[in-house]
Amino acid sequence: MKPEDDMSDETAMESLHHEGRTFDPSPEFAAQANASADLYAAAQADRLGFWAKQARELISWETDFTDTLDWSDPPFAKWFVGGRLNVAYNCLDRHVEAGNGDRVAIHFEGEPGDTRSLTYAELTAEVSRAANALASLGVGQGDRVAIYLPMIPEAAISMLACARLGAAHSVVFGGFSSDALHSRIIDAEARVVITADGGYRRGKPSSLKPAVDDALAKGDTPVEKVLVVKRTGEDVDMVDGRDLWWDDVVAEQPAEHRWESFDAENPLFILYTSGTTGKPKGILHTSGGYLVQNAFAMQTVFDLKPESDVFWCTADVGWVTGHSYIVYGPMAMGATQIMYEGTPDTPHRGRWWEIIAKHGVTTFYSSPTALRTAMKWGDDIPAEHDLSSLRLLGSVGEPINPEAWMWYRRVIGADRCPVVDTWWQTETGAHMIAPLPGAMATKPGSSQRALPGIVVDVVDDSGKPVDRNTAGYLVITEPWPAMLRGIYGDPQRFKDTYWSRFENMYFAGDGARYDEDGDIWFLGRVDDVMNVSGHRLSTTEIESALVSHEAVAEAAVVGAEDETSGQAVVAFVILRGGIEETEGTVEELRAHVGREIGPIAKPKRIHIVADLPKTRSGKIMRRLLKDVAEHRKVGDATTLADASVMDVISASVAAEK
Ligand code: WTA
Repeated sequence: MKPEDDMSDETAMESLHHEGRTFDPSPEFAAQANASADLYAAAQADRLGFWAKQARELISWETDFTDTLDWSDPPFAKWFVGGRLNVAYNCLDRHVEAGNGDRVAIHFEGEPGDTRSLTYAELTAEVSRAANALASLGVGQGDRVAIYLPMIPEAAISMLACARLGAAHSVVFGGFSSDALHSRIIDAEARVVITADGGYRRGKPSSLKPAVDDALAKGDTPVEKVLVVKRTGEDVDMVDGRDLWWDDVVAEQPAEHRWESFDAENPLFILYTSGTTGKPKGILHTSGGYLVQNAFAMQTVFDLKPESDVFWCTADVGWVTGHSYIVYGPMAMGATQIMYEGTPDTPHRGRWWEIIAKHGVTTFYSSPTALRTAMKWGDDIPAEHDLSSLRLLGSVGEPINPEAWMWYRRVIGADRCPVVDTWWQTETGAHMIAPLPGAMATKPGSSQRALPGIVVDVVDDSGKPVDRNTAGYLVITEPWPAMLRGIYGDPQRFKDTYWSRFENMYFAGDGARYDEDGDIWFLGRVDDVMNVSGHRLSTTEIESALVSHEAVAEAAVVGAEDETSGQAVVAFVILRGGIEETEGTVEELRAHVGREIGPIAKPKRIHIVADLPKTRSGKIMRRLLKDVAEHRKVGDATTLADASVMDVISASVAAEK
């Protein structure tokens, strides 16, 4: 599929239309910025030397590395060869040792209004206790721990406790179903699960522990122990000998834990993400390179001043953004940050802006979806709050349309704060393409250029660089420190998915183009991955969920452009012979997908159809369904086995309205 196929005319025109606008940083911002344009030249002159310097300056190594990169067996990289470090020490103890133990690490804001602040000294003690507790349950280097928690400090504490012991965590987003949790526990072979009774969402307790019980009841898991944090106080079933209250086990542990160092390539975490097939991929990240590149991004892209900034990334720790820019990046740098449990509109639509004013947030990192929603709610809501502490704004998760970018800059940033649009992926581990604030002008809608030390290109089908203003595929042409080290347990899938499309290049799955200044614009995914509110969902995975319902014979899912969520899930479903559509069918199918995968995967619309458009070889042509879902004239249907199918589908969808 050509990237243009995935791009609506409207987006293309809008992005071309606004390209001219750029915003220079204010002289005050530029004067104090951590990053300067010289970084590009330095990295270009000696890329590996550049990363070695960052590694030694930003991170504390117990044993220095001997080689910066071992790329002798591509695509399997080893960075900072021979180096030994402890990631949790870097994120905690060293800040205390440097005299910053009293600095707040986390200002926690619970959705119901409860608050809690943890200093670096307190967080170090909490993580040490948790590490001792996990060790008492037999967790050590080489093990995996599944974490299924709401956005509470224990999520970060658990992750760091695993890192301290050299065990890898696998965080499963709390919005995922017990089925999704079950398959992730099995794939990662997790021995311990850390969960909570529940968390607060939209003003109500929302339970988590029952989903863990259901997942483990499905059998075949290697789970021995379940640690349960008490958050909502709701009743939960505790299984004798298996389930333990966090408070009972962790509180009694000593607050000191002597860390040991691990190899730079020791696994740090596995994080599952959707791919083009139904089975989620366990993206594997290791320690040294991941930490170095994230610390670098904090310093340059977020211009972090740990002694004075208050950083807030609104992501959930269940996604990579939370891993890199709530836990590891900010904490490696000793930042003070906000952790907020709930939704932006509970109890009112000004909740985020109220939190910014309360804590004097300086650096705010959020998603285009959230910004478009806030835009819809109206400018008067943020205007009621004092946002004058802000000095830098970031965006991530999907292409940000120039209008949302301009709104962000004007309404939230008072036309003063630079806006950095950061492109990266679960697989890349850290920012890859983003402007360096203070060192250059920013441009609405564009992620602009690869960071110093990162080398990317936009290529055509044959892997040749495209001309300016021509759509192509985004590729990464040199290994980078925070790159994924593989797909857990499936080296062949790692090669096939990312390294086989083009020779010696990492295929990201995103369409992109250069503009006339050479700045990069993203055009959305070119594969069967959808991006709904910044969350990656696989069309195949949702199709499998639909087909697993007894009433469904066949299903095809597309991501249709949506004003608020970027894309929305739209499904076309054929019912089994003898089954008639009733009033409740569509709602039942939506609920079924919610149970199978999680509420975020529920289709926004389901069309019951008699047939699906297929090629002669039987492949469903989703492109044509996407035309219908986006209310466009249906494109070229000549390769269909039965060309009349699309007329029938279009007519039946039109009749529904
Ligand atoms: C998309 C989230 C355009 C892209 C960090 C990528 C973006 C996928 C941007 C990764 C951006 C993320 N501009 N598109 N600034 N940031 N994407 O793994 O399609 O959840 O491939 O990582 O999100 O999503 P993931």
